[in-house]
Amino acid sequence: MRLSRPPPLFRASLIRASLSARNQGVLVRMASTSTVGTRVRASELNGLTSAIPQTGLKDSSLLISQGYINGKWVDAKSGAKITVTNPATSEELGTVPEMGVEETKEAIAAAAEAFKTWSKTTAKYRHDILVKFYNLMKEHEEDLGRLITLENGKPLAEGKGENTYSASFIEWFAEEAVRTYGEHIPSPFPTVRNVVIKQPIGVVSILTPWNFPSAMITRKLGAALAAGCTAVVKPPPETPFSALALTELAKRAGVPDGVINVVTTQKNVNEVAKEMCENVEVKKVSFTGSTPVAKQLYKMSASTLKKVSIEAGGNAPFIVFDDADIDAAVEGAVYVKFRGTGQTCVCANRIYVQSSVYAEFASRLADKVAAFKVGNGLEQTTTHGPLIHERAIGKVANHVDDAVAKGAQVLVGGKRIEGLGTFYEPTVLSDVPPNALVNDEETFGPIAAITKFETEEEVIRYANNTPFGLAGYFFSRDVGRVWRVAEALEVGMVGANTGLISQANIPFGGIKESGLGREGSHGIEEYMITKFIAFGGL
Ligand code: SIN
Repeated sequence: MRLSRPPPLFRASLIRASLSARNQGVLVRMASTSTVGTRVRASELNGLTSAIPQTGLKDSSLLISQGYINGKWVDAKSGAKITVTNPATSEELGTVPEMGVEETKEAIAAAAEAFKTWSKTTAKYRHDILVKFYNLMKEHEEDLGRLITLENGKPLAEGKGENTYSASFIEWFAEEAVRTYGEHIPSPFPTVRNVVIKQPIGVVSILTPWNFPSAMITRKLGAALAAGCTAVVKPPPETPFSALALTELAKRAGVPDGVINVVTTQKNVNEVAKEMCENVEVKKVSFTGSTPVAKQLYKMSASTLKKVSIEAGGNAPFIVFDDADIDAAVEGAVYVKFRGTGQTCVCANRIYVQSSVYAEFASRLADKVAAFKVGNGLEQTTTHGPLIHERAIGKVANHVDDAVAKGAQVLVGGKRIEGLGTFYEPTVLSDVPPNALVNDEETFGPIAAITKFETEEEVIRYANNTPFGLAGYFFSRDVGRVWRVAEALEVGMVGANTGLISQANIPFGGIKESGLGREGSHGIEEYMITKFIAFGGL
């Protein structure tokens, strides 16, 4: 059943709650003394202190409160539901079904049945459907961007930006569908011809995180559909609405029943994930999320030797050398540290700055961060939104407290913003010692922790001193150093003089404990098998 009444989001009670928040006068206090100066700033939490626009979606049928199996919108067999909240207001956005193993088995069976026909369609046919899907995502970009903001909290501009990024995977893989070329290999035997063909691997299990409610789905689903695979998608319980809206648009684009199935779950997540990884009908598992969960899924998938792609945790170093363009380095840090309020796997986590430019960089970064407008993403002027939930706040606070206890100085921010929602002040810490927790673990929050270094050799040692290896960034104008450092960083992706690496057409992925396989780019290969055929008897 679709929502037959206005979703709670748009109800008067919520508007009242939002307006009452206006009286809370939440202050973002930012103060401290430090070796590089003091910033004191007081500002109101953006959007919780003024009226929030409550205009809703233009196409309300994109807000869907059911799972999707074999072309039908369905509830959980138990009738149980998951409540989804807006992290900016802690208010209920709506519910989705709490599905379990039974529904997951049905979804996999539907995908296996649909694979029989979808895998036989021509690449051009799939290309055309994906192009329609892409066009629908562009047509509905306001609504899709808004949904992302509502369930994830990122500002509207970023929500819409994510939709653009997300749609670019559908466009890219539409174009890849028709280029899954095979090979002819000259044979040493005169009566034999060697041919290699690519075929879709089968049913794919897709498990995605809340930090990119849309783009992490299309990055996998686009490749799977283009290859001729069918899919069961498990979106995160925090942000299921984007996944369901995408499914509706895929359906409108002509994706046949059973080709995409969506299982929503929260309490039953362990059982559902196990089924998605162990069911013999599933031939491939693709996951984006934390490294500990990735290891569990990898183990489960090993039971049937499934092909696995994993994009897991990062702990990206961001290095500023003394020959860097400091303006560009500060811009890069603002973008890649605070994108999604610090909640991306490729966010800079550890900022290392060479001693002679240390004070200047820290001071300029602190100025920029002090000017952020933190608040409800629905406000046009909000630059940074909330963290996703209380656990996230706890981890960030722990990293700040630990760094301060070990001698770091708070230049800006440094604490939770009390009131509605899960907000933490965008924070800049200077004089962070190399042994601080923030230099060891992925923070997934808005803390720029700056550590001083003296030599290239020393900073490469710091940068690589982690089990993770997703992304790394550095700024230097010395061409020799650019090559040396890019080669020395133990990561899958390097931003040399840029913080902007994410695109559909690049091989996105990590090394070490940050993952397996590559997405985007030629990632369609991950959803195909390579078959060799020797033609004899000529
Ligand atoms: C992620 O955080 O997992 C993905 C980030 C990106 O695609 O840029």
